[in-house]
Amino acid sequence: MSHARLFTPFRVAGLELRNRIVIAPMCQYSADEGRATDWHVMHLGHLAQSGAALLTIEATAVTPEGRISARDLGLWNDDTERALGQTLDSVRRWSDMPIAIQLAHAGRKASVKVPWEGGAQVPPDAAGGWQTVAPSPVAFADGQHPPIALDKQGLAAVREAFVAAARRAARLGLDAVQLHGAHGYLLHEFLSPLSNRRDDEYGGSLGNRLRFPLEVFDAVRAAFPADRPVTVRVSGTDWAPEGWDLEQTIAFAQALEARGCSGIHVSSGGLTPAQTIPIGPGYQVPLARAVKAATTIPVVAVGLITGFDQAEAIVGTGDADLIALARAILYDPRWPWHAAAHFGASVVGPNQYLRSQPSRYRNLFATPGPRS
Ligand SMILES: Cc1cc2nc3c(=O)[nH]c(=O)nc-3n(C[C@H](O)[C@H](O)[C@H](O)COP(=O)(O)O)c2cc1C
Repeated sequence: MSHARLFTPFRVAGLELRNRIVIAPMCQYSADEGRATDWHVMHLGHLAQSGAALLTIEATAVTPEGRISARDLGLWNDDTERALGQTLDSVRRWSDMPIAIQLAHAGRKASVKVPWEGGAQVPPDAAGGWQTVAPSPVAFADGQHPPIALDKQGLAAVREAFVAAARRAARLGLDAVQLHGAHGYLLHEFLSPLSNRRDDEYGGSLGNRLRFPLEVFDAVRAAFPADRPVTVRVSGTDWAPEGWDLEQTIAFAQALEARGCSGIHVSSGGLTPAQTIPIGPGYQVPLARAVKAATTIPVVAVGLITGFDQAEAIVGTGDADLIALARAILYDPRWPWHAAAHFGASVVGPNQYLRSQPSRYRNLFATPGPRS
C-alpha cells in the first residue's frame, strides 16, 4: 500500500481523477485546416495509455485566425468537430482516461510558421499568413506586422467563437474545458499592461484589463454543462518590468473563483521577448503555491517537473493539488507507470500490456474499474 499523495484520487468539480498527474496541453502543429489527423490518434492514443489522471488536448483554436500556425488544431465548424470526434472515438475505444480540451485564440502571436520551420511570423500578404488581432495594435516583437485592435463587434465575435467551440466540446463528450489565458495569447494580451494599451473599458485599470477574459469565462461557463469543469490556464507573471505579475494573477484567480471557475493552471511568461525567466526545476511552483494560498479552488503546477519525488513533494506539501507534465511525458510516455512503481502505487494499464509488469512491481496495474 503506497502512501504517495501523487497517487491519491482528486476531484475537480464533478470530475473524478485517479491520481494527481495531468498531461499538459501540447500543440502538435499537425492538423489539416484545423482538422485532427491520424497523428492525433497516435499522439493522444499513446498518452491515454500513460496512467495519468487527465489528458489535455492541445491549444485548439476557436477561429481560423486564432491559430498560432496554419497547422494548428481547431474547433470552429462541423468539419473540425467531426475530425476531432473521430480521433476521440479511437482514443476512447481503448482508454477511459478523462479528456479535457484547451480552447485558445493566439491573438497577436498568430500566423507564424511551425516551430520546426523556425516559427517566424508569416505576414498577411505572404502565402499561409493572415492579419492578426489583439487588444491593441502593438506587435509582439520589433519589426513584426502589427495586429489590428479588436473593436466591440470583434470582441463579441471572439467571445461567441469561444462559446461555439465550448458547445462543440460538450457535444464531443469532452470532460473539461480549459481556457488558454497564458503564454501571451489573446486572453493574456488583454490582462497584461504591456500588450493592452486600450483606453476603453477593456484597458487601463486592472479591473478593465480583466473584463474581457472574465466575459469569455462567464460565457463559456454558461455554455458548457454545469457538471463539467471549466478551468483557466494563466501566466503567473510576464517576468518583465511593468508587466502582468503575481499580485494581478491572484486578483484574476479570485475573480474567476467567484464566478465558478473549477481550477487554475499556473504557467508563466510568453507575452514579451523582454522576459527573463529564472528557469530551473519547478521554477513556476512558487507561483502556483501563491495562487493556492489565495484561493480555495484546485491549482495545477507545471514547468520542469520531471522527478517522481519532486512531483510528490509539490502535491504532498500542498503547493498544488495536481502537477502537469509536458516535455517529461513526451520523453517518457510511461512516466506515471514508473512513478507508481517507484512509490509502490498502481496505475490503470491497457489489458494488452498487462504482461509487461515487472515481477518486482507485482501490484503495479490496478484492475480497471470506474473512476469514482
Ligand atoms: C511541444 C509543446 C507544445 C506545447 N503546447 C502548448 C499548448 O498547446 N498550450 C499551452 O498552454 N502550453 C503548451 N506548451 C507548454 C506546456 O504545456 C508546459 O507548460 C511547458 O512545456 C512547461 O512544462 P514542462 O517543463 O513539463 O514541459 C507546450 C509545450 C511543448 C513542449
